[in-house]
Amino acid sequence: MQEDNMLEQIVQPLLDWFDQNARILPWREKPEPYRVWVSEIMLQQTRVEAVKPFFERFTEALPDVKALADCPEDSLLKLWEGLGYYNRVRNMQKAAQYMTELYDARMPADYDKLLALPGIGPYTAGAVASIAFEIPVPAVDGNVLRVITRITQNDGDILKQSVKHQVEMELLKIMPEGKSGAFNQSLMELGATVCVPNGAPKCEECPLSGVCLAHQNGKEMDYPKKAQKKPRKIEKKTVLVIRDGSRAAIRKRPAKGLLAGLYELPNLSGWLSQDEVLDWLKQEGLSPIRIRRLSDAKHIFSHIEWHMTGYVVLVEELENDSGKDMLFIEPKRTEEEYPIPAAFSAYTAYLQIRLGQEKYDEK
Ligand code: ADE
Ligand code: SF4
Repeated sequence: MQEDNMLEQIVQPLLDWFDQNARILPWREKPEPYRVWVSEIMLQQTRVEAVKPFFERFTEALPDVKALADCPEDSLLKLWEGLGYYNRVRNMQKAAQYMTELYDARMPADYDKLLALPGIGPYTAGAVASIAFEIPVPAVDGNVLRVITRITQNDGDILKQSVKHQVEMELLKIMPEGKSGAFNQSLMELGATVCVPNGAPKCEECPLSGVCLAHQNGKEMDYPKKAQKKPRKIEKKTVLVIRDGSRAAIRKRPAKGLLAGLYELPNLSGWLSQDEVLDWLKQEGLSPIRIRRLSDAKHIFSHIEWHMTGYVVLVEELENDSGKDMLFIEPKRTEEEYPIPAAFSAYTAYLQIRLGQEKYDEK
């Protein structure tokens, strides 16, 4: 059987299944274009359940394109804190600023115009166009690629653009008029809840088990095919929690690169000994009184892993001219004003503890 004809058979069963099984989600209740866009960007990095509270917080603070366009950067990053990939929200703001200028602060009901906005690729453009505007275009993410390569036993490497493009073309031919939003979401939903990424798919619950080639041949787990990725680069770091009686030291990260423009705990590359840390602190003009080693921690980004060790250091009163690039603030202000990314969470925990001197003493 031809693949085209074969995929035609999935449309109605999927729509019927989605009708019965769609999860109730805040952005589905009110599928305004702006809300769909925000949810789709958040969902690129986090599971549906985890996204809900972030979505509510974000859309309450910034209910529309104009509010997002005008939001001060630090507040914006603060609203995104916990979601990671901060460039995504910066790009959203740029896109919101373009839309304010070009489209009267509304999302354009046009796939190509959506695609031309910063941070909006074929997946997001397809999702917003179909879910919010019923434009018949596909929205192919990792979930959809997995479902389709299993159904059609497509042996292509899904990390290749050409394979993704081929799947997009196959789906474009079968988009149901007036129901493209539900159809795209049914594929995503099936991928998230039935044809799952980790472990065996639940084929016995799947509305497509009669059509699916991988299932018929018992080869579900052989798809999707993926070439090996390059291993991540490992960076060793020493993270410092520097405190006096009431304040703690933080720094602003550079405007470009990883975690750009966010705040961080002062840190040095490599794993430093206690003496090396003390030397560095003195060079920075600080006067350390006590130092204690903290436990090691790891944070995994898409292309880099941080392997961290840390120290908590009590210093004599922090002066604003001590510590060249550092800022000395009340620890609770990191919660309200100074977004510190989750990569530091093993150590930011120590900011919240009110440390008496005795806590630094080695036991
Ligand atoms: N994953 C990403 N977007 C989704 C959506 N709209 N519905 C279900 N799962 C999703
Ligand atoms: Fe996925 Fe199994 Fe359904 Fe095929 S039958 S689409 S492998 S859940």
